[in-house]
Amino acid sequence: MAQLWGGRFTKATDQMVYDFNASISFDKRLYRQDIEGSLAHVKMLAKQGILTEAERDVITGGLEGILADVESGALAITSEYEDIHSFVEANLTERIGDAGKKLHTGRSRNDQVALDMRMHVREAVKETDRHLLVLLKVLYRIMEENIDTFMPGFTHLQKAQPVTLAHHMGAYFEMFWRDRSRLADIYKRMNYCPLGAGALAGTTYPLDRDYTAALLGFDGPTRNSMDSVSDRDYVIEYLSALSTIMMHLSRFSEEIILWNSNEYRFVELDDAYSTGSSIMPQKKNPDIAELVRGKTGRVYASLMGILTTMKGIPLAYNKDMQEDKEGTFDAIDTVNSCLPLFTGMLDTIKFRKDVMEASAKNGFTNATDVADYLVNHGVPFRDAHGISGRLVLRCIEENKALDDLTLEEFRSESDVFEEDIYEAISMKTCVEKRLTKGAPGEAAMREVLEIYKNYLNNEKGL
Ligand code: ARG
Repeated sequence: MAQLWGGRFTKATDQMVYDFNASISFDKRLYRQDIEGSLAHVKMLAKQGILTEAERDVITGGLEGILADVESGALAITSEYEDIHSFVEANLTERIGDAGKKLHTGRSRNDQVALDMRMHVREAVKETDRHLLVLLKVLYRIMEENIDTFMPGFTHLQKAQPVTLAHHMGAYFEMFWRDRSRLADIYKRMNYCPLGAGALAGTTYPLDRDYTAALLGFDGPTRNSMDSVSDRDYVIEYLSALSTIMMHLSRFSEEIILWNSNEYRFVELDDAYSTGSSIMPQKKNPDIAELVRGKTGRVYASLMGILTTMKGIPLAYNKDMQEDKEGTFDAIDTVNSCLPLFTGMLDTIKFRKDVMEASAKNGFTNATDVADYLVNHGVPFRDAHGISGRLVLRCIEENKALDDLTLEEFRSESDVFEEDIYEAISMKTCVEKRLTKGAPGEAAMREVLEIYKNYLNNEKGL
């Protein structure tokens, strides 16, 4: 009885343990990096006399065959293997016989997976960077076209002072530029090759780690073998950079959602980038922007996940670290699809310049300029602030703009006002006078655009 029961239970448990332990369902994504890493490793082994040239050639042929077959679909990566490393090695031995068993000389799955993941993340960093560059180019175009498109600038989501659409877009240009520079930093720091670290303590074979590092496009080999197999800092840094990118995209999305609403009507989304409602025929929904905003959560979650996974791991490799993959892959896919979608949406958006300008006029965004006018005529700022505030109150009561007040009405609060007040508080003057570095005035804006143009012209990406 016990045996029957025991046999049945043991078998079921074994299968569960196997499934729980296996990573093939997600690390199959690393097949190319795994094979490329193995090709470099074998080349190095032969150079060092650890493998013969004949062995190197037969293993290389086998690995290249596996790569070609996986890419053509002739060879499926199935769950009968524990992980991608076992899949490649088992297939190799099946193809070329015993020589395949020599592939793993001087290597452990610990340095192998560290290499695969690093190569994968390195490529993802480059892809994210390429998407950001395209987004920056679209932002630059919009800026160039809207140096004199007036709109309200907001604080507390209340109309504050007039700015231009170019200036508003410029704020996002700065954010995504910083995002790119973060990626460049990460790339530089992570681009060292962990292969040759072995399980944790290097190997007794005379490996040439500089050679494999160079073959795989790294700046050199890593310096400490224990760190090499247990470092996932670069994953954390990348996920952190991705989280910041999503935070920026999410803020931008939020604005587009607001601007697309019936209340604002600042923008009209292209039909190709909006969706309808199944019940309300009048609706044109900003689903793409909402999804980008919504997906920000899962990218943050991946960052929190890996941070938490790593915090209690003693040196060196522990199986916990297998958990670095699914969240990272999900974040990569999320950001690398959100960026081009968002860029497409932005590139096709129609800005309603007339609505933006009318909105800037109707929100007392020039109240500071009324005060500044008084200050320029000798009134202390605190008094000027009060005078301007009382004029605003009157306008609110009479439902009109500051520009609509008669000169008598202006003078009822201060006899400093003259006919030139209208010119001084016109939208054009309000913006144009803001000429400090980084302000929306045309001359200041053109200076910045020149910097952006040079930056974009000299960027080739990572
Ligand atoms: N699937 C493992 C991972 O992703 C590969 C490394 C396995 N190493 C080991 N000692 N079990 O981390």
